[in-house]
Amino acid sequence: MDAREIRNSYLAFLEERGHTVIERAPLVPRGDTSTLFNGSGMQSLLPYLLGETHPDGERLTDSQPCVRAQDIDDVGDNRHTTFFEMLGNWSLGDYFKEEQIRGFFTFLVDIVGLDPSRLSVTCFIGDEEYGIPRDTEAAGIWQQVFAERGITAEVAVIGSQADGDARGVRPGERIFFYDGGENWWSRGGSLAGTPIGDPCGPDSEVFYDFGPEFQDPSYGLAHPASDGGQFMEIGNQVFMQYRRLPDGSFEELARRNVDFGGGLERIAAASIGSDDVFRISLLWPIIQTLEELTGRRYDDETASMRIIADHLRGATFLAVDGVRPSNKEQGYVMRRLLRRAIRLALSLGLSENFFATVVPVIADLYAADYPEVAASRDEVIAVLVKEENAFRRTLEGGLLALGEYSGSTLTGADVFRLSDTHGFPKELSVEEARRLGIDVDDAWEAGFAEALEEQRARSRGATRLGAAGLPHA
Ligand code: ALA
Repeated sequence: MDAREIRNSYLAFLEERGHTVIERAPLVPRGDTSTLFNGSGMQSLLPYLLGETHPDGERLTDSQPCVRAQDIDDVGDNRHTTFFEMLGNWSLGDYFKEEQIRGFFTFLVDIVGLDPSRLSVTCFIGDEEYGIPRDTEAAGIWQQVFAERGITAEVAVIGSQADGDARGVRPGERIFFYDGGENWWSRGGSLAGTPIGDPCGPDSEVFYDFGPEFQDPSYGLAHPASDGGQFMEIGNQVFMQYRRLPDGSFEELARRNVDFGGGLERIAAASIGSDDVFRISLLWPIIQTLEELTGRRYDDETASMRIIADHLRGATFLAVDGVRPSNKEQGYVMRRLLRRAIRLALSLGLSENFFATVVPVIADLYAADYPEVAASRDEVIAVLVKEENAFRRTLEGGLLALGEYSGSTLTGADVFRLSDTHGFPKELSVEEARRLGIDVDDAWEAGFAEALEEQRARSRGATRLGAAGLPHA
């Protein structure tokens, strides 16, 4: 099954089980300024997870495009992307742990065709301070589900990620208990970090085990929550049964919900037995186009090609959702993605414009399933090409200017000048300087802010003078 088939069969599988396929939310959240982008399927469903009645009922599903700009520095490895599709299903006070765990397991094993003996799962260990019990219910269901396929699933009580790094996995273990830093889901990321008023709960994550040869030993021993490479998280089932109170404690929700999120790209990678998400059918054609354009091979230029492919895919979807490159907020992130892609392409020897070749390839991968991509295809290409032209005009001058700092230290004021004169997003100047071996002042961010403030003060002064109508000399 390729990635498209996995997405479409997931939605069909859930629909057969009484779920309504809801319209996806836009990448820029409506009426919610808490985050710049939609970073999970549940974000737009928050009011319903807190008790409001959803017009489409109690069983919902979708595939939600997400942007996690905070992951930008991790892109380049085999699994991180700023843009991804999150397969989601929700039970709003309807089914709970048993149906969710069985359903997702059946989907992975019987529909996608993953080998169940390669799956490992994690559950919440419990927390005495907050009076929240260990999730033995979820662990018990998992044990039964594996047993039905003749697979032993011993339980291991781990604790934190660091405990796991030191201990590793022992033979026969398949179900792992971790603490509130790993197996508790809230928008704050952990049990202790749960925002007041938010719904939250223990979660049970599912991992694909690529085998010990994939573990990078510098991360310690292999275990599901390790970042070492052997295990890749492919889905997370949140059992939303609590809400945080203003005094910091947790109360049980009157209605218990399920919030499931699965990484489409990662499930697709597992299904082709590759630990590299860029090899899946929704990303590989972009890489192939980059190989053709640059005459270089992915195997030799892996990280750069991954970053270019990811950033252009993300920027394409942002443009579909109406974001335009600018110097603020979402537009700034989009600009940063595009300019970084251009800069990296140049390092691969691509000095000609190339968006007009790559962006249509991206649009065509999604046009059949996202009608809005088909409808805005030409406009999106035009938006991105315009930004490419604008940056290309100043790129060379900017790189030359940056080169002048070799042997000296790049300060925040220099970074500001490169941004003001050459349109280099500040992070790009710093990254590029480091790549060229130029020293960067540790306090560059403060220096940048100061230079920006000085410029603002100057322009405020100029405006005031203008408004005062001083006579021209
Ligand atoms: N909301 C959960 C997540 O993002 C499913 O992992």
